[in-house]
Amino acid sequence: MSFLNKTINKFAIKYAHSKMQKALTNNLNIDITNQNIAKIPNPNKSYMLYTHIPFCHIFCPYCSFHKFQYNKESCKNYFKNLREELKQTKEAGYDFNSLYVGGGTTLIDEDELIKTLELAKKLFSIQDISCETDPNHIQPENLAKFRGLIDRISVGVQSFDDEILKKVARFEKFGSQKDLINKLEKAINILPVLSLDLIFNFPFQTKDNLLTDIKIAKDLNPQQITLYPLMKSNLTKDAIAKSLGISNIDNEYEFYKIIREEFKDYNSNNAWAFSKEKSNLADEYVGSNSDYVGVGSGAFSFLDGRLLINAFNLDDYEEKIKSNKSPVIATCDFKDSEKIKYIFLTKLFDGEINIKDFNLQNKVDLKKTMFLELNLLRLANAIYEENGFIRPTEFGRYICVVLMKDFYTGMDKVRAIFKNDAKIKSRKKLYVMSEEI
Ligand SMILES: C[S@@+](CC[C@H](N)C(=O)[O-])C[C@H]1O[C@@H](n2cnc3c(N)ncnc32)[C@H](O)[C@@H]1O
Ligand code: SF4
Repeated sequence: MSFLNKTINKFAIKYAHSKMQKALTNNLNIDITNQNIAKIPNPNKSYMLYTHIPFCHIFCPYCSFHKFQYNKESCKNYFKNLREELKQTKEAGYDFNSLYVGGGTTLIDEDELIKTLELAKKLFSIQDISCETDPNHIQPENLAKFRGLIDRISVGVQSFDDEILKKVARFEKFGSQKDLINKLEKAINILPVLSLDLIFNFPFQTKDNLLTDIKIAKDLNPQQITLYPLMKSNLTKDAIAKSLGISNIDNEYEFYKIIREEFKDYNSNNAWAFSKEKSNLADEYVGSNSDYVGVGSGAFSFLDGRLLINAFNLDDYEEKIKSNKSPVIATCDFKDSEKIKYIFLTKLFDGEINIKDFNLQNKVDLKKTMFLELNLLRLANAIYEENGFIRPTEFGRYICVVLMKDFYTGMDKVRAIFKNDAKIKSRKKLYVMSEEI
C-alpha cells in the first residue's frame, strides 16, 4: 500500500471514530422519566425481540454487560417477571419473527429458559432463536434439551490462550485450552448453529496467539466463528488494565487484516462473524432489523428513532411488571438524520445496502441525506456502488468494525448512568454487581 493510501486510511479511521464519538456524546441525551412510556407497534414494521438474562457465575474484567451474581432464587423470580413482560408485549400488539437472548449467561437456569422460550414461541410467530452462553453450559445432554427451540447458540470462548484465560479469570471457571476444546468438540452439531466467540487485540496478544486461536477455532469446525475486537469503555478500562496490563501498541487494524485473510474462504455474515455456509440468522440484534423491542432488566429497545431503557434495578423492574406498568425508566431521542446514519451503519456492517429498499423503508433519499458521509467514505475507499447496492470494501469492513465498536462502547455511557441505580436498594443484598466482588 502506498504512503498516500496509508495516510488516507489512517485519517479515515480517525475521522470515523471521532464522528461516532461526537454523535454519541451529542445525541445521548438521556431523559429519565417517571411517566408510563408504553411501547406501541407500528403495524407496517417488523421488529426483532431481544431478551436479557442478567446473571453470571463469574464476572470477567472486560465485560460491561448488565449482570448480577447468580442466585437461584432471584434468577427464578426474574424469569417469572420476564415471562410476564413477554405477555404484556403481546397484549400491546407486537409480533416477532426472530428472538435474540443475550446476557449474562442465558442458559444459567435451563428449565426457566425452556419455559420462557416456549412461551415466546406460543405468543409470537418466532422462526429463529439465538442464545448466548458460557462454556460450562454446553454439555451435550443439556444442549439436547433445546433441540427444536434454540437455532443458534453463541459460546463465549474469548481466547484459547491459557495465559490470557488466567488473566481474565476464566481459566479456573471454564477451563484451559484443552478443556475448552474438549467441551466444544462435544457441543458442536447438537443444535443447528454453534457460534464460537473470540475476542482479539487483548493487550500483549501476539500475532501468533491470534493465529493459534483462529486455527483451533477453524479445526473445531463450528458453523460460525465470531471475532470481536476488544472493546474498552470507561466502565471496563481500569479492570482491563489491572488484569491484562496496558500496552502502547494497538494491533486492532493489523489483526483485523489477518482475520480477513484467514477467513477469506468463509462467508462474512457481518464484519466480524464468519461461517462456511451462508447464514440467514440475525447476528447482532442491532444489525439486520433496525427496530427492536428489548424485554428484561436493563434491556434497550430501539423504536422509531427512540432508545427506550428498561429498569436496571431488579426490584424496580419487578415492581413495574407486577403492577402492569411499563418497565421503561429512561428514553433517548435521536434526530432523523442520526437515525438514518445508524441504520446505514448497521446495514453496511451486515454487508450491503440495497439503495432502493433503503429509501423505501426509511422514506429518504439516501444519496441526498448522507451526501457528505457517502462521499467521504468513497474518497477513503471504504465503500463502492454496484448495481444499486452500496458495499464496504475490505478497508470499509474495518471502518464498520471501528464504528460498531464505538457504538457498543457508547452504550456503556447509558449503562454507567444506571449502574448505581441497579445495585440493591432493598431485599437483603440478594443482587450483587461486579465491583462488589
Ligand atoms: C455478553 S457475553 C455473554 C457470553 C457468556 N456469558 C460468556 O461469557 O461466555 C457475549 C459475548 O460478548 C463478547 N464481549 C463481551 N465483552 C466484550 C468486550 N469488552 N470486548 C469484546 N467482546 C466482548 C464476548 O465474546 C462474549 O462472549
Ligand atoms: S463475558 Fe459472559 S460470563 Fe463474563 S461477565 Fe460477561 S456475560 Fe458474564
